[in-house]
Amino acid sequence: MNKYESVTAFAPASVANVGCGFDIMGFAIEGVGDKVTVILKEGGNKSDVILKGKYGHLVPFQRIKNTAAVAVDAFLRATGNSHANIEIILEKNMPLGSGMGSSASSSAAAVFAVNYIMGNPLTTSELIPFAMEGERVACGTAHADNVAPALLGGFVLIRSYNPLDIIQVESPSDLYSAVVHPHIELNTSDARRVLKNEVSVENAIIQSANTAGFMVALIKSDFALMKRSMSDLLAEPKRTQLIPGFDEIKNAAMSTGAIGCGISGSGPSVFALCQGEKNALAVASIMQHGFSKIGLFNEAYVSQLNSKGTSIIDFSEV
Ligand code: HSE
Repeated sequence: MNKYESVTAFAPASVANVGCGFDIMGFAIEGVGDKVTVILKEGGNKSDVILKGKYGHLVPFQRIKNTAAVAVDAFLRATGNSHANIEIILEKNMPLGSGMGSSASSSAAAVFAVNYIMGNPLTTSELIPFAMEGERVACGTAHADNVAPALLGGFVLIRSYNPLDIIQVESPSDLYSAVVHPHIELNTSDARRVLKNEVSVENAIIQSANTAGFMVALIKSDFALMKRSMSDLLAEPKRTQLIPGFDEIKNAAMSTGAIGCGISGSGPSVFALCQGEKNALAVASIMQHGFSKIGLFNEAYVSQLNSKGTSIIDFSEV
C-alpha cells in the first residue's frame, strides 16, 4: 500500500565540467531549478507529461521524448513497477540549452519524486543511472556530470562511467559560484559535435595533472592551486567559438579576482569560482557587463555550492 498520492521534488541547476573535468566533474548551485510532481493513479494508461512553468511549452510532452518521463519510466521498469500509472507534472523553470543542467534538473527531480512515492526502494546514488537516461534523450549522451550533483548536491567527481563510480568531494565553505546565462540557446549535442575525438599524449598529461590538482585544491581549500589547475584543453578551446564574447568575459572575470572562469557545461552560460560572496558578486557583474556590451540579455546566479541536492518540497498522503 502506497502512503503518498502525490509527491513534488525540486532539483537544482548545476555546473558541469568545471574547467578541467570534462564529463567528470560538476557541482550544484542555489536559486534555480525544476520541479516535478508525480501522482500515483489507480489503473489506467500512462498519460503524456503535463507541462507548466516559464519554459514548459518548449519541452516535449511525449513520455518517450521528455527527460523527466524517460527517467521515471526507466526507474519503474528497473524496480519491477512498470504497471504503476504515474502521472508526471513538470514545472520547467530553467531555460533550455543554457549550460546549467536544465534537462538534468528535470530528470533528477522526477526520479527522486517517483522513488519517494514508491516508498524509497533505492538510495539517491542509485537513482543516478535513471536520471542519466533522461540526459541520453536530451543530448544523445548519458553523461552524469549534471545529474549526479543535481541529485546529491555539492561537488561531485565521476571517477568512472563503467562501472559507475561517483564520489562526493568536500569543498571549501567560502567557495562561491557566479554563473551568467546569456540569452542564446546552445544544444549540448551541437556543442559536443565540435569536440575532437583525439587528444595528444602531451595534452592528456596536462589535463589529468590539472584535474588531480583541482581535486587536491578542493580538499585542502587551496585557492592558489585551484587557480593554477582551472585550465581546460579538451572542450574550452573548441567551444569558445560558440559563445560570443567569451575570451573578453573570462579575462574580465580573472582581472576582477576570480579563482577561475570557464564554460558552464556545454555553454552558453559562463561560470566563475570565487572566494567569498563579495568577490563573486563583483565577478558576476563584470561578466554580465561583458554580455550586455555585445547586446546579449543575460542573468546571473551567485551562490555557494548547493549542498542539499534534490529534495521533496510537497506531498499529499493517500
Ligand atoms: N559534460 C557535458 C558537456 C555537460 O560538456 O557536453 C553538458 O552540460
